[in-house]
Amino acid sequence: MRSIPNIDNFEGEFSLPGDKSITHRALMLNSSVDGEAVITNALGGEDCVSTCACMRALGAKIDVDGTTMRVRGVERFHAGRELSCGNSGTTIRLLTGLVAGRGIDATLVGDASLSKRPMERVARPLALLGANVRTTDGHAPVYVAPAELVGREIVTDVASAQVKSAILLAGISASGVTTVEEPTKSRDHTERMLAAMGAKVVVDGNRVSVEKSRLSAIDVDVPADISSASYFMALGALKGKTLCKNVGINPTRTGILTAFDKMGIKYSLQNRSVSGGEARADVLVEKSDIRPVVLGGDDIPAMIDELPLIALLLAFADGESRITDGKELKVKESNRIQTTAEMINRLGGECVPTDDGFIIRGKKKLVGGVVDSYLDHRIAMTAAVGMLASEKGGEILRPECCAISFPNFFNLLGVCTE
Ligand code: S3P
Repeated sequence: MRSIPNIDNFEGEFSLPGDKSITHRALMLNSSVDGEAVITNALGGEDCVSTCACMRALGAKIDVDGTTMRVRGVERFHAGRELSCGNSGTTIRLLTGLVAGRGIDATLVGDASLSKRPMERVARPLALLGANVRTTDGHAPVYVAPAELVGREIVTDVASAQVKSAILLAGISASGVTTVEEPTKSRDHTERMLAAMGAKVVVDGNRVSVEKSRLSAIDVDVPADISSASYFMALGALKGKTLCKNVGINPTRTGILTAFDKMGIKYSLQNRSVSGGEARADVLVEKSDIRPVVLGGDDIPAMIDELPLIALLLAFADGESRITDGKELKVKESNRIQTTAEMINRLGGECVPTDDGFIIRGKKKLVGGVVDSYLDHRIAMTAAVGMLASEKGGEILRPECCAISFPNFFNLLGVCTE
């Protein structure tokens, strides 16, 4: 349990941990080529530790020294391994695609939460490429057997970077061209990294094509994760002023800034740069009056992981907000439509869960209270922000899950006791 006090003011400059999505991809792709690479500012969160363990089981050597990871990859993966993906949806889904065309057997397993999440969404399109992938009633364990893959065009019905990436990673060992078309563009780190490693990648709006390719190892300097920075950005908006340094601002990830624009939250981007095809900047956020908004449609994929936090911020607006088109929230680490609404209501707000989002009746304040994390890192961290900005503070039950994406979260907040 963690007690979180309410605070009058929150100001500071923060260096946040490396981007989870980019760290996973840098580890997986560099582990699967014959070469050496150094990943700096890598995320050491539990999800990325799971990816390291899987890639080592497949034959890669990975040395971790703080936030620097040295990877020596292998072109031929070890066969017959059990790959423990822990709690990580990105690990299990991307790896299923990566191993499908590598001529090996593998079994991919997850923890209790991951074993409830849908896996047919990757097994089905991979089967269309000729992959031999079997789920357990639609879930993990997932069994992969050797198969010759043939590239083709696949149209997905969800905007999911995990699904798109699984198909593209299979595509690099499939003959010919593999094309994925998704309903709305999801985060594009995989296609950016594949291109940087020498794959022939063509992007045309929501369509991405990749050809069978030999990749070269590349060093990756990982920007800070905008999803982790978002908690500190929100505290700036509610309680003072925060500067988050070197944050990844890939346009497929900056939906929270689109939401800030609509909500009237004042922010600016400073020191912009681009490295390894990924844009970054320092993000300054200042205390603002929050306007109620309607969010939905094509804006949603770029803010999918921030929707619990955006809903919480809207509890501090004056009036009713609506979030729609967020059905994907139901299949995250918890059913985030239910758990977000419950968290906000327990803190004294008014949030009604709907089939694809929320109605939030903002009252400009939250009282505070006791909230369970539901073992979902994003719910725990969002609840902490709500408590700090509330009238009385509160307590988070089962807060350790923050270590999935942000092991240092409570230390960096610097305001709570165990
Ligand atoms: C991720 C994609 C998203 C996101 C997850 C990380 C990725 O999931 O929610 O935290 O790294 O590809 P979906 O692709 O299922 O939307």
